[in-house]
Order: sequence, then structure tokens, then C-alpha cells
Amino acid sequence: MKRILVTGGAGFIGSNFIQYMLETYPDLQVINLDKLTYAGNLENLRAVERDSRYSFFQGDIADRQVVMELLSRKKVDAIVNFAAETHVDRSILRPDDFLKTDIFGVFALLEAARHFSIARFVQISTDEVYGPIPEGAASEASPLAPSSPYSASKGGADLLCHAYFVTYNVPVVVTRAANNYGPYQYPEKFIPLFITNALEDKPLPLYGDGRQVREWLYVTDHCRAIDRVLREGRPGEIYNIGGYSEEQNRVIAETIVELCKKSPELITFVEDRPGHDVRYALDSSKIKALGWEPRVSLEEGLAKTVAWYKKNKDWWKKIKEADFKNYYTAQYGKRLQKKGPGNGGEPGNTPSRS
Ligand code: NAD
Ligand code: TYD
Repeated sequence: MKRILVTGGAGFIGSNFIQYMLETYPDLQVINLDKLTYAGNLENLRAVERDSRYSFFQGDIADRQVVMELLSRKKVDAIVNFAAETHVDRSILRPDDFLKTDIFGVFALLEAARHFSIARFVQISTDEVYGPIPEGAASEASPLAPSSPYSASKGGADLLCHAYFVTYNVPVVVTRAANNYGPYQYPEKFIPLFITNALEDKPLPLYGDGRQVREWLYVTDHCRAIDRVLREGRPGEIYNIGGYSEEQNRVIAETIVELCKKSPELITFVEDRPGHDVRYALDSSKIKALGWEPRVSLEEGLAKTVAWYKKNKDWWKKIKEADFKNYYTAQYGKRLQKKGPGNGGEPGNTPSRS
């Protein structure tokens, strides 16, 4: 594989993936197509921006002309699609862009992959397409039951990928990963929001009773898994990528305040997210059979992540002081005023590990 198109490479996982691939494969060329939405940040790619093997194009994956023109100028061996609207809470506030990018964007990329007979298309999907998994673990054959406009859009794209494989023989592989965390994650997501709020002595808004469970995957483990699927995954197949580290949100919140050396009283129970999935859990035996397994434990990963956010305050302060403020007010303003009884806990209540 000589040249790959990475879409959404200026976001959290995409930028980690580009850095990982350029470090790992000296002869690889990477083209990054990204619209630079609020979540896209070229600062994430400072380490590679002068690398002659890397090039950046600003554009929308849902614009078929943009995608076709780029691929007619640049021949690529594979497309790895990270580009998406990704935040569940934003999808609840305003679903429109989720459908446009996460479904129509994938449609445009699949059409281009078909037209140019691209040898491999990796669609980065999510465990959220399975919906809540109260017990056991979702396998790749489990039914799709998405709860949010975000996960429904991602699930729609997965089905489109399947159809393009069956109907047009486009060599699509879909990955469904667990919740990621690590450096360069936009501070709207749970872990970076809680770390940065803790470092600023602001409340940590825990939804509902905080007993929801997520399976956490350190971002470089995810990058290694995508690389494995890109090279060895079978076209038409789906691969779950889990972190083997389930935890309740309240325990993650407690660990973050401990690591930041702050008071647990910052943890504030607020009104729950509508349609909040109680638990995600993946059966990842299929990708394990390809020889991959996660290397970073949750304990180690959280410590590394807190250390990164402590060291890179300029990176996240710039974000939090810009448009993020409007989103934060819309999402948390009323919630933080209404905290307390009836919303899953008393103000200032500290969760326990029981
Ligand atoms: P992110 O929100 O940090 O980054 C998304 C990137 O896509 C940004 O750079 C943004 O500018 C770009 N983008 C958005 N719309 C675009 C468009 N129309 N055209 C081109 N670029 C566009 O997201 P992330 O957390 O890095 O997630 C990357 C992918 O991984 C997504 O597809 C997401 O569904 C999937 N995923 C994420 C997680 C997670 O925990 N973060 C877990 C599983 C799967
Ligand atoms: P999030 O990072 O939004 O990922 P997802 O919803 O895609 O899993 O949230 C992770 C968990 O943390 C989820 O159960 C919701 C919870 N959460 C809070 O309790 N408070 C918050 O402010 C946020 C953003 C999330």
C-alpha cells in the first residue's frame, strides 16, 4: 500500500491515525481530506505538516464533486473514512449535519470508491450502532438498534457499506470501536470534558445516576487495530474493536478528580441525556483472531491522558474559549442550574465505588 486517503484526519482519532501511520510506514503517503468543522483542528497535525509524505485538502466528503476531483488527481490504494459528526449530545440538539455527513458523506465516498475501483475502503463505525447492551457483549452479528441520531446515522452508513459490497463489489471493511480516549480529543466528550473542567475547578456534569457503563479504548490501540484491518481485514466483513475495560461513568469521574488532585465535590449529578444507553460492551474475538489486542490498560491510559491535558493547556483552552462556550451553555446551562434531587443526586453529592 503506497498512498491512502484519510478523511476526517484533522479530528481526534484521524489525527492520531495519520501520525501513527507515518511513524510506522516510512514509504507511505497520506492525503487528508477534512472539512474543518468545529471538531477539525490542524494543530493536531503539527508534527507531520511539513512531512513531504503528507498533504492536506480542505473539503466536504458529502460534496461528490470535491471527492471525485480529488481522487481523479490523486490515485490512492485505500480510503479510511473517519469524517463524521460524532457527538451524541449535539445530535440530540440538532441532528441535521449528522445525516448529511455520516450518511450522505459515506455515500459520496462509496460512489467514488466504486468509480475509481479503490482496492480497500475502511469505514470507521462505532459500537453505538448496537444500542444498549444491558448484559453480555455485542458480536458483529448482533442486530442494530441505535438510540441517538448520531448512532442511527452511523448505522445507516454501515448498511450502505454492506450494500455497496454486495451490489457493486466495493471492497469495504467496517470497524466498530468502543469509546476512545487519549490526546487531542475535543473537550466536549466525557473524559476530556471532565479532565479540563477539573483542571479549571469547574463542575463535572455527570448524567443521571452515573452508573452507565462504557468500554474504553485508548486511541493508539484503536489506530493499531485500524491498521490491521486495513491490511488484513476481509472485504465485506465487520470488526468490533473493544478495549476490554468496562467501567461506570461515576468511577471514571472519581479517577479523573484523583488524577487531577481535585475535590470529588466537583462531580455534579445533572439531568440525564434522553435515550441514554445504559451500557456498551463488545465481543472483539474476531479482530483478536487477526493478532490484535489492546496494550494500554484503562488505568495507564487515563493517567497518560490526564498528563497530556495538563501539559497541553494552550490546545484546549483555545477551544474552550471560542465557540465551544455557546454549545456548553446550550447543553449544560439549565442542567447545572437544575442539579439535585430528581436528577439523580444531591448537589455536591460524591459518588462511591459501590
Ligand atoms: P472528531 O469529531 O474528533 O473528528 C471528526 C473529523 O471529521 C473532524 O476533523 C471534522 O472536521 C471532520 N469532518 C466532519 N464532517 C466532515 C465532512 N462533511 N467532510 C469532511 N470532514 C468532516 O471525531 P473522532 O472522535 O475522531 O471520530 C472519528 C471517527 O471515529 C468517526 O467516524 C466516529 O464515528 C468514529 N468513532 C469514534 C469513537 C470515539 O469514541 N471518539 C468511537 C468509535 C468510533
Ligand atoms: P460521550 O463521551 O458523549 O460518549 P458516548 O455517549 O458516545 O458514549 O459520553 C460517554 C459517557 O459519559 C456517556 O454514558 C454519557 C456520559 N456523559 C456524562 O455523564 N456527562 C457528560 O457531560 C458527557 C459529555 C457524557
